[in-house]
Amino acid sequence: MDWGMKNRMAKLIKPETGRAVWLAMDHGYFLGPVKRLEKPGETVKPLLPYADAIMLTRGILRNCIDANTSVPVILRVSGGNSIVGEDLSKETITTSMEEAVRLNVAACALSIYVGAKYEHQTLSGLANLVNEAQRYGMPVLAVTAVGRELGKRDARYLSLACRIAAELGAQLIKTYYCDDFERVVEYSPVPLVIAGGPKLKTEQDALQLAYDALERGAIGVDMGRNIWQSNNSVAMIQAIRHIVHENASVEEARKLFESLTK
Ligand code: R5P
Repeated sequence: MDWGMKNRMAKLIKPETGRAVWLAMDHGYFLGPVKRLEKPGETVKPLLPYADAIMLTRGILRNCIDANTSVPVILRVSGGNSIVGEDLSKETITTSMEEAVRLNVAACALSIYVGAKYEHQTLSGLANLVNEAQRYGMPVLAVTAVGRELGKRDARYLSLACRIAAELGAQLIKTYYCDDFERVVEYSPVPLVIAGGPKLKTEQDALQLAYDALERGAIGVDMGRNIWQSNNSVAMIQAIRHIVHENASVEEARKLFESLTK
């Protein structure tokens, strides 16, 4: 691996623990003003000190994030779809590598939709992005999107999607946690992080999700709604960090969460 690629990867995955807590806030690229992300800059400001990286689009980065920040950026470079559009899988590359370099980001991210109507478009988009990103030492994070079909999140489907992402050259993969998640990890030669998905009933449920994913081989989380839709988001991200970077149990993380919310 070339120095630039290595250095960017080290910014994203803490060399001390080999793990990562990324804060996903790119939802607006197809969902518009999601609850609690109506003003992304305000929501995320108190969380930044606890995030190993933030994942977002160039528009929100330029308009809502202070350029003096030292938090690494994972730039979402795919889109062109919307929740009210024809088909969520109809995504394309929206942001050039030149922009990514200009914005000094640590990685580029795009979604792939395996098995969907526009599967080929998103997979060839990934392959082309990797081809270009390699020239700049830029890691690519592939997101195994399922669109509205949340039921697709099982080990058979996710193993397939993650393996294809790795085969096409993604250095990092973001996927969902599922039963038998260790199979998904086993068949992927590159590190996996998990998304949180829609807000779970309690913070403890989200802590359990992070814990289970780490136990079964994920190297971290790229979590959004289960952090910033919590009424105690700053405590929540610290509790997640406790699990990811300090090997805390769910109970220890819950206690930390509660002590920080008093
Ligand atoms: C898709 O909307 C994005 O890639 C999100 O960043 C992703 O789903 C992770 O966010 P959450 O934890 O809210 O699912």
